[in-house]
Amino acid sequence: MTEEVAQQIPQHVAIIMDGNGRWAQKRFMPRSYGHKKGVEATKRAISFYARAGVKQLTLFAFSSENWNRPKDEVSTLMSLFISSLEKNTQELNANGIRIRFIGDRTAFSQKLIDQIEQSELQTLHNKAMTLNVAANYGGQWDILQAVQKLALKVEKGDLKPAQISADILSGELSLGDSPNPDLFIRTGGEKRISNFLLWQIAYAEMFFTDVLWPEFSAEIMQQSLDIFASRQRRFGKTAEQLSDV
Ligand code: IPE
Ligand code: IPE
Ligand code: MG
Repeated sequence: MTEEVAQQIPQHVAIIMDGNGRWAQKRFMPRSYGHKKGVEATKRAISFYARAGVKQLTLFAFSSENWNRPKDEVSTLMSLFISSLEKNTQELNANGIRIRFIGDRTAFSQKLIDQIEQSELQTLHNKAMTLNVAANYGGQWDILQAVQKLALKVEKGDLKPAQISADILSGELSLGDSPNPDLFIRTGGEKRISNFLLWQIAYAEMFFTDVLWPEFSAEIMQQSLDIFASRQRRFGKTAEQLSDV
């Protein structure tokens, strides 16, 4: 019998994958090269966290504000989404990973929309881990679309304004059927949320690293889990209350 206590693993990890452009520019390469390398880091992260026992992984791939980047960078990113899904859906499926997209997909090309739908459908029944890809996503957009759905219910007479609770609003958000993220990670050195999941990270533990996304390694991923396990989550209570069980 081993005395080792199992490490507390976050059920849901959310990541802002940042730093692709700077990684490439440091090497005097175009930013698109950084995005290509970023896809490899993304694959490593998916397999690492799935193996660690994480049940939901939410990755910020493209924000609603990223449309404001130079045209050729946006089109490189769109092509990369299509080719990554074409190349990797089969492997995700073989590993029991369900993929789904959150965000306003109507702005994408029909080709990308079709590929997203196909990848979602192909992996729909997988249970090992759910991979949520946030693309054309914004935390404010998410709250607004939830509020609009609730307003429609009120208009139809199916809901009274006083019945709107945190749980009811949560249920209309993009990840309404998932537990909130326990661990929030941002690579690339910036310490901001950049309109990622706003409502859902109310009590997430934050892990910021200067490591640029293409260099996100197993070592740093393990560090994120170790740091998470070392934190005491109090949810507003005192430390004494928590040890009083
Ligand atoms: C993150 O890397 C990828 C996307 C936003 C699509 P960046 O492209 O933001 O890289 P930096 O922050 O400019 O280095
Ligand atoms: C956030 O990164 C969006 C993604 C990683 C997809 P940005 O690089 O767009 O964020 P800012 O502009 O530095 O806040
Ligand atoms: Mg960035």
